[in-house]
Amino acid sequence: MSTLEIRDLQVSVKLPEGELKPILNGVDLTVKAGETHAIMGPNGSGKSTLAYSIAGHPKYEITGGSVTLDGVDVLELSVDERARAGLFLAMQYPVEVPGVSVANFLRTAKTAIDGEAPKLRTWAGELRTAMEKLEMDPAFAQRNVNEGFSGGEKKRHEIMQLELLKPKVAILDETDSGLDIDALRIVSEGVNRVRATGETGFLLITHYTRILRYIKPDFVHVFVGGRIVEEGGPELGEQLEAQGYDKYKVRA
Ligand SMILES: Nc1ncnc2c1ncn2[C@@H]1O[C@H](COP(=O)(O)OP(=O)(O)OP(=O)(O)O)[C@@H](O)[C@H]1O
Ligand SMILES: [Mg+2]
Repeated sequence: MSTLEIRDLQVSVKLPEGELKPILNGVDLTVKAGETHAIMGPNGSGKSTLAYSIAGHPKYEITGGSVTLDGVDVLELSVDERARAGLFLAMQYPVEVPGVSVANFLRTAKTAIDGEAPKLRTWAGELRTAMEKLEMDPAFAQRNVNEGFSGGEKKRHEIMQLELLKPKVAILDETDSGLDIDALRIVSEGVNRVRATGETGFLLITHYTRILRYIKPDFVHVFVGGRIVEEGGPELGEQLEAQGYDKYKVRA
């Protein structure tokens, strides 16, 4: 069973002038396989910075603390090594990859993660099933990754990757934003299918409790000013929705 451990993580964003602007001020969080952690917090508090720092985005400089996956120092690994180690990030704004079809992209990713190419005999079927479950038109397989996809289509494509790659820890950064009512349910069901295996830990960054009614979190963390300022169960999400972040902002 896998464990992601984040200890006193401090991160600055590298500004174009070369200066460092501190964003994360000591994040402590442990995510175990089978657990679902929701992170809620105001705009600009550093939630995406946390996601990107774990994934290894070069824009961010780690200035202190540690991140380990099953005892392995994640911060020492390159981006693709992190992915192969079992980390997965569904981005808040998925990027377009012109010239690379969805089918090719997924097969290449699957090959890199598993260390061997998926069997030709079964792969096409697996891909088709994954698309059907997320109610995606099979025509998407031949389109370039995210190119011209609507916001919601991009998010479905992220969850399709999640289902096919079966990561140890999945970070979903506002996967619910911009989804229509049906898509929210379809995407949530995709997450819940992976969750049901008990082999993936989830870090769910969201602004709304709507998704948390479909994907019941075990823990809710309030993220303000670059760190976690409060922890609780699902009821904390409902409380935030009713009261907002004011009292935490004062404390932060
Ligand atoms: N290049 C930059 N120059 C200055 N500030 C930056 C730069 N890049 C990021 N930041 C700042 O870092 C802070 C954290 O941003 P981040 O995207 O992590 O917030 P967030 O919590 O994900 O917000 P949201 O809920 O809106 O997605 C923001 O205040 C942002 O303006
Ligand atoms: Mg964000």
